[in-house]
Amino acid sequence: MDRRSFLKLSALAPAAATITLSSVSGKGYADEIINLSDPEKAYWASIRSQFPITKNLLFFNNGTMGPSPIAITEAVTKQIEHVDATGDYGFDHEKLNKSIGRVLNASSDDIATTHNVSEGISIIASGLRIQAGDEVLLTNQEHGGGAVPWLTRAKRDGIVVKFVEIDPSDDITLERFEKAMTKRTKIIAVPHLTCTMGYLLPVKRLAQLAHLKGAYLFIDGAHPPGMLQVDVKDIGCDAYASCGHKWLLGPKGTGFLYITKEFREQVMPTWSGAEADKHWDYNASNGNLEFLPTASRYRFATQSSSLYTGLQAAIEWQEKIGFAKIENRVLELTKQLRTGLLPLADGKFEMLTPSHMMSGVTTIKLNNSKRYIDFAHELENKYKIRTRIVPENGLEANRFSVHIYTSKDDVEKFIEGFTQCLKSV
Ligand SMILES: Cc1ncc(COP(=O)(O)O)c(C=O)c1O
Repeated sequence: MDRRSFLKLSALAPAAATITLSSVSGKGYADEIINLSDPEKAYWASIRSQFPITKNLLFFNNGTMGPSPIAITEAVTKQIEHVDATGDYGFDHEKLNKSIGRVLNASSDDIATTHNVSEGISIIASGLRIQAGDEVLLTNQEHGGGAVPWLTRAKRDGIVVKFVEIDPSDDITLERFEKAMTKRTKIIAVPHLTCTMGYLLPVKRLAQLAHLKGAYLFIDGAHPPGMLQVDVKDIGCDAYASCGHKWLLGPKGTGFLYITKEFREQVMPTWSGAEADKHWDYNASNGNLEFLPTASRYRFATQSSSLYTGLQAAIEWQEKIGFAKIENRVLELTKQLRTGLLPLADGKFEMLTPSHMMSGVTTIKLNNSKRYIDFAHELENKYKIRTRIVPENGLEANRFSVHIYTSKDDVEKFIEGFTQCLKSV
């Protein structure tokens, strides 16, 4: 591929603001890309070239943290400089809420920006109008961020938290939730995609079940946005919390909460401050506070306009690629990874993530599972592959994730390293 064809092709990919061929060639990318005769490969290589994450590391832990493309970090620093140069610290939240709305297929009125997933979960768990003895159903595969806010409410107000075991069969999962529900069950709160075994839950059916029984459905959506296409209206959930710092590849410490108009009436803001209100008055009885009618009632006070500028840029960057294209690429890479790993299992490990629940996250459990931490260390120390261990609930498993900066060659190298490490377990 010559330089002109490369430039044409990479024009299809979202360009990093100041990345030019010469600036990336210093990192050894540009010549590689130009020499690629396969346009598809060159396209993804041009995407990869926009990430500063070092070439010496195979980063297979996007499930924990999504490294940002350079353009996003530049947008953040530019805004920091702008604020300090001008004193203009305001931010167009409506524009960002609209962008987040496009990610989730939601109205901007139903979006509140937060700082992480756990904050969105805490807004619901601490503010929901429930009483001592009322029940909330969680799964047995929660992240601490999914469980602790509800357990905190249980400690504070005596609500009852029950953990329901989920299953690769959607029917069984649904049956178990139905069985666990009582007259006191007020809400089902589940992850869309579990961080442990990588289960994709039947959230649409869970929403129907919850509503049929007069309860609500809340979703911990830490993972899908920026990886799989999400449609909260189609799911029919009452609220959905996510973040910018995983699969959307945005600044760390950015998040958002979707919450419907009806459900907002059931969730009182717990922490609050200026800008959450539509109206209050010194002279009126008890200050006559009225919250904003929109979900922005849960956001208040001075915010980091630079981080939210970065989130805005990250969403726009992904939109230029297209969410469907991102989803296809992630699934293609995961399929390659699973196809490479499965023949190696041979009594040495079990694939915990079912094939019909494929996403960017894949979890395995070594038969000799006590070695799971050593296994991750060996992958990192000998083969420069960063992964995540899964100690949650004594699972002792290993989790691998891929995203659009992962190449097919990276997956090959991962399988080679994995094969070597497997010899010592
Ligand atoms: C399923 C799930 N829920 C919640 C969280 C917590 O996310 P945050 O740190 O943004 O609150 C994570 C983080 O990995 C997660 O995987």
